[in-house]
Amino acid sequence: MLDEGTPSERKSMHLLVALGDIYGAEAMVPITWAHVAGASYKTVGDPGLQFIEEFARTGRTRVKTTVNPIGMDEGRWREFGIPEAFAEKQQRILAAYRRLGVEESWTCTPYLTHGMPVRGEHLAWAESSATLVANSLAGARTNREGGPSALAAAVTGCTPDYGLHQEEGRQPTLRVKIQANVAGAEYGLLGCALGPKVGGGVPLLEGIRPDPDEVKFLAAALGATSECAMFHIPGVTPEAGALQATGLGEVVAIDASDLEATRETLTTADDADLVVFGCPQVSAAELHQIAAGLAEGKATAPVWVFASRAVAQGAPDAVKAIEDHGGRVIVDTCPEVTPLELFAKATASPSGKAGVYLPTLCQQRFRWARTEELLRGKA
Ligand code: F3S
Repeated sequence: MLDEGTPSERKSMHLLVALGDIYGAEAMVPITWAHVAGASYKTVGDPGLQFIEEFARTGRTRVKTTVNPIGMDEGRWREFGIPEAFAEKQQRILAAYRRLGVEESWTCTPYLTHGMPVRGEHLAWAESSATLVANSLAGARTNREGGPSALAAAVTGCTPDYGLHQEEGRQPTLRVKIQANVAGAEYGLLGCALGPKVGGGVPLLEGIRPDPDEVKFLAAALGATSECAMFHIPGVTPEAGALQATGLGEVVAIDASDLEATRETLTTADDADLVVFGCPQVSAAELHQIAAGLAEGKATAPVWVFASRAVAQGAPDAVKAIEDHGGRVIVDTCPEVTPLELFAKATASPSGKAGVYLPTLCQQRFRWARTEELLRGKA
């Protein structure tokens, strides 16, 4: 492929060989699934648009390829006030990805729309939150790819064999004792508190038993505040059982005061003019939870819910209930990669990752609060 591939295949293989050289890989490993980031016109701009249009001239995916959220709801962007000029460029990016042969999903939770990968399956996923879920919760194997390296893996069908593709790279490097009761979206606070302590390590997290939606909050916040790409939780993640935790030298503790300090650091607004759910994009269970909360009629600011199209289509009753009670369900996109700054100045959300990115990507003042608080009280 290096010598005889199409221009996009040659470019891709050169990139992967260079990465393999940097990280000391001795071979490529075939992958079954690539997940690409960098599809919103807001985040990639004109250079990204030109790159993907050029790349799609001679590139075709060889494996299942899903793609992160785009910058708008493809079907209802006019209704949501997205400027024409933005939409026109976004549609060109979409057309290029379609020529490449990707799956129509535009989601950062591909494990909710295309099924959880299986243990031992080799992937090349960009999007840090999804990478953490795939490695940790599924036991699949992927490094934390960037948009270009995931795209290169999509058109070559392989990735350099190093890091989390190998058994040694998946062993825990530090032990974290969590001495607080953590529930629901508080896992996002925990992820933000953990990030600076974990860095690029593989932590063994003791003292928690998150459900899959709680893992999603944890993974997103941890990925946003560190280089971490995998964690172990005894009784929750599949590779934790075989570990020898006692040999780990570094032990870190997190308690309730760390979570409270994190909430205070994230919060820069007393009131919000918009409440957003869906960073990462919501699951069906979250859609139902939000629908039930909104039905009580106590939310004090407009509520926008970001979901993948597939998850929203799979829960039509919850979507209808949310919209009947004045909320909006917005698909294909996410709070950070849509031009949210055109519609709000201060946002409240239960997402730790949103607290990290909304202030910079969307110039928002921010208030972190639990899901139940936002639906049943002050925004
Ligand atoms: Fe997903 Fe956007 Fe958050 S891609 S994890 S909703 S920043």
